[in-house]
Amino acid sequence: MIGAPGREVVKALLPGLRRRFDVHLVVCNAENSAGGYGVTRDSGTALIAAGCDALTGGNHLWDRREGAAYIAEEPRLVRPANLPEGTPGEGWRVFRASDGTAVGVVNLLGRVFMREADCPFRTADRVLGALREKCKVVLVDFHAETTAEKMAMGWHLDGRVSALLGTHTHIQTADDRVLPGGTACLSDAGMTGGFDSVIGMDRQAALQRFLTLLPGKLTPSDGDLRLNGALVTVDHATGRALAIRRLEIPYAPAVSGGGARLLRGDEPALSVRLAARAEVERLRARGVTPALALVSVGEDPASRIYLKRKGEACAEVGIEARRVTLPAGTETHAVVERVRALGEDPALHGILVQLPLAPPAAAQAVLEAVPPGKDVDGFHPVNVGRLAAGLPGFVPCTPRGILELLRYHQVPLAGRHAVVLGRSNIVGRPLAALLSRKGVDCTVTLGHSASGPALRALAADADLLVCAIGRPEMVTADWVKPGATVVDVGIHRVAAPDSRTGHRLCGDVEAASVALVAGALTPVPGGVGPMTVAMVAANTVLAAEGAFAPSVAS
Ligand code: GUN
Repeated sequence: MIGAPGREVVKALLPGLRRRFDVHLVVCNAENSAGGYGVTRDSGTALIAAGCDALTGGNHLWDRREGAAYIAEEPRLVRPANLPEGTPGEGWRVFRASDGTAVGVVNLLGRVFMREADCPFRTADRVLGALREKCKVVLVDFHAETTAEKMAMGWHLDGRVSALLGTHTHIQTADDRVLPGGTACLSDAGMTGGFDSVIGMDRQAALQRFLTLLPGKLTPSDGDLRLNGALVTVDHATGRALAIRRLEIPYAPAVSGGGARLLRGDEPALSVRLAARAEVERLRARGVTPALALVSVGEDPASRIYLKRKGEACAEVGIEARRVTLPAGTETHAVVERVRALGEDPALHGILVQLPLAPPAAAQAVLEAVPPGKDVDGFHPVNVGRLAAGLPGFVPCTPRGILELLRYHQVPLAGRHAVVLGRSNIVGRPLAALLSRKGVDCTVTLGHSASGPALRALAADADLLVCAIGRPEMVTADWVKPGATVVDVGIHRVAAPDSRTGHRLCGDVEAASVALVAGALTPVPGGVGPMTVAMVAANTVLAAEGAFAPSVAS
């Protein structure tokens, strides 16, 4: 944790991380917390106020003379244990985690390429002897330079401590694992602070020191801020680690101005509806009243709300919306017949079949019964194919709405890397086709459930990240490149015991953490949803104008 920039990251990100991972104890190495050197009362107090439960040290702990009294007095601070008898402070302490578990925290200094200290291995043995009766769960912060010494300590302590986490190099290693005896190990947890730096300090000044060998002043970097650490899951009955996961989470207030720009959908949706209304007036003046059939099978609660909104949007712009509701249990052939009859009705210009259909009705056969020239959802294979081939045709409402929302907010797209998460026919696939179209010109990656653990790294490379995976708050800050534009397509109702209603709405994106990293983010609700609804009206106007009928009508 390096200086004021590191403290800022901890303060901003730690509360969300504690909630999200249900963290019971946070241990923070604080030896660089005061201007990059040592700990002071102010820097230690700030870390504790930010949510750290225990602070550990290292060879730089005493770099600030004014910090000495604090190190001696602070009951939440653990200094290296393998120092001479009589060194102020304590080398190990027992903390009470928020679930009541007693957790021993030990700090040790390495000896390879470090200043002299007592043998860390034998000191560890002695400390564990003292801790044996006090707690089952023990975390050791081994502050050491070399990987070899840290790995050796991991094997020395395997089965006797819950976690052995290295610090000191500031560079996170990729060797996180649980050893056979149940000790979670990571050679170095990395650093929290500015990565546009030399191990957290201003890179120009650091470079000058190497070039000139003069002792120039180093100050903490505040460029490319990130939180590094590790999350260890421990069986508190046995003290054995169950899992360890490295964390690297970007934090970009400088890019996002302290919070992502909100790309709201209500304004662009209004302008889409106003344009549709003007077209409807022209059509009506020619004696054409645009009309749309909204077909549903069964009583899906979410569908009921969507259909209500679509009907209202149509009414607002002057489109006649006719609801066609078939009961759950209707056979596919009966739904198909009904849709075909609607297709033959010359007074109807558009047909939208709301998905999902209640079983046993099969969606694909029903969608193929919609004449392509009336297919305002763009789900008929003819329109799917036309979109894939870059030909004119109906474009599904959500992807079309997303593109219009990005255009309205002037988000640059040409040449940018767009990553679309989710390969549904309703959003992911058609959006990937749209974004890679000539004139839009994104480079597109389509990630999905079978992309496996690589999905997160794909997402973190995106300039534009579209989340349409259907899992509440799955996309967190560590999936997002600082400054990226994030489009949240999901909408979910999740339990919220503290709220008046007992629930809240959220998307596929954890907005609270992502807003700290992203440059721009669509809100849920009020982002993509209104755009989808507006595009139903816009596509129905196109259908009434016969926009695609001459070449594609069946
Ligand atoms: N179900 C979920 N989203 C959609 C949509 O955009 N159109 C239809 N027809 N059904 C849906």
